Amino acid sequence: MTGLRGARVLVTGASGRIGSVATARLADRGALVTAMCDLRSVPDGADRAVGGDTASFDDVARALEGAELVVHLAALAHRDAGTPYDVYTNNVVSTFNVLTQAAERGVRRAVVAGSINRYGLPQGVDADALPPYLPIDTDMPADVSDWYSLSKLNDENTCRMVWRRWGVDIVTLRFPHVNTMAAIEAQSAELTEHPRRGVTEAWAYLDVRDAARAIELGLTSPSRGANAFYLAAPTTSIPYRTDEVLDAIAPEVPRRRRFVEREVPMDLTDARRLIGFEAEHVLDRQVRDVPAGIR
Ligand SMILES: NC(=O)c1ccc[n+]([C@@H]2O[C@H](COP(=O)([O-])OP(=O)(O)OC[C@H]3O[C@@H](n4cnc5c(N)ncnc54)[C@H](O)[C@@H]3O)[C@@H](O)[C@H]2O)c1
Repeated sequence: MTGLRGARVLVTGASGRIGSVATARLADRGALVTAMCDLRSVPDGADRAVGGDTASFDDVARALEGAELVVHLAALAHRDAGTPYDVYTNNVVSTFNVLTQAAERGVRRAVVAGSINRYGLPQGVDADALPPYLPIDTDMPADVSDWYSLSKLNDENTCRMVWRRWGVDIVTLRFPHVNTMAAIEAQSAELTEHPRRGVTEAWAYLDVRDAARAIELGLTSPSRGANAFYLAAPTTSIPYRTDEVLDAIAPEVPRRRRFVEREVPMDLTDARRLIGFEAEHVLDRQVRDVPAGIR
C-alpha cells in the first residue's frame, strides 16, 4: 500500500458533500490537496484552492499543476440538477477532460465517483421497474433511460479508455446514497413506510465518512487496471429482514442467494477484494417483522 504523505492530490468537486469530507480526510493523512472548488466554500484541509470549471481545458490544466493523484468527484449529481444537456455534457466532458489531461501529465492513479445509477433503474423512466435479479452485482447489465445515469455509465468507459491508452489505474466507486447519518436516518424513516421506493437502490447507503475512507483506499490500494464496483454499508436502511421484505414487495425478482437478516442485497465482494473496503458507520436498526399490506 502506498502512503499519501506529501503526495499532491487534486480533488475536483471539493466543496461538495463528499468532496469536503474527502479533502479533510486526505489532508489528515498527509496529502497536499489541491481543491478544485467553489472559492466561497474552500474545504478544510485544502493546501491549494483553485476555482473554475472541470469542463474547461485551461481551468483543469491549472488545477493539475504538480498533481500525482486525482480524485474526480465534480458532477451535476442528479438527473434533475440541470437540463438533460447540461447534466450529460457537464459530467462526461468533465470526466474526459480531467482524466485525459491527468494522464498526459503523468498521473498514474485516480479515483472517480461513479454511481449506483450506472445500471439505470433508480432515476429511470419507469418508476415501477424492479432489478433484474438480486443482489446487485458488478456485472449487472445497464438499462438506462435518463441522462444522469448515462453520464455515469459512460464515465466508466472513459476510465477504461484512459487505462488502456495511458495505463492509469482507476478505481470507480459506484456510490449508493451517500450522506450524513442524520440524513440517512431521515431517508430510512420514509423507506420503512414505503420500502418499494428503495428496492432499485437495494436500500443501500453509505455514510459520507465511509465514502471518504473508500476514496483514500482507492488511492492507496495496489489494484491495477480500470475497476468499477459497488460499495455500501453491509445492512439496509430499513428494519426488515431482506428476504422477508422482498417476499412482500418484489417476490418476482430472482434472488441468486439468501440474505442474512438485514443484509444489503448488493454484492460487496469487489469492494473488499480490490480496495479492502468495509463500511464502519452503520445505521442502528432493530429488526422488525414486515407489517401486513406494506408496499
Ligand atoms: N451523494 C450521493 O448520494 C452520490 C451517490 C452516487 C454518486 N455520487 C457522485 O459523487 C460525486 C460527488 O457527489 P456529492 O454528493 O458530493 O455532490 P455535490 O453536488 O455535493 O458536489 C459536487 C460538486 O461538484 C461541483 N461541480 C459540478 N460540476 C462542476 C464543474 N463543471 N466544474 C467545477 N465544479 C463542478 C459542484 O459545484 C459541487 O460542489 C458526484 O460525481 C456524484 O454524481 C454521489
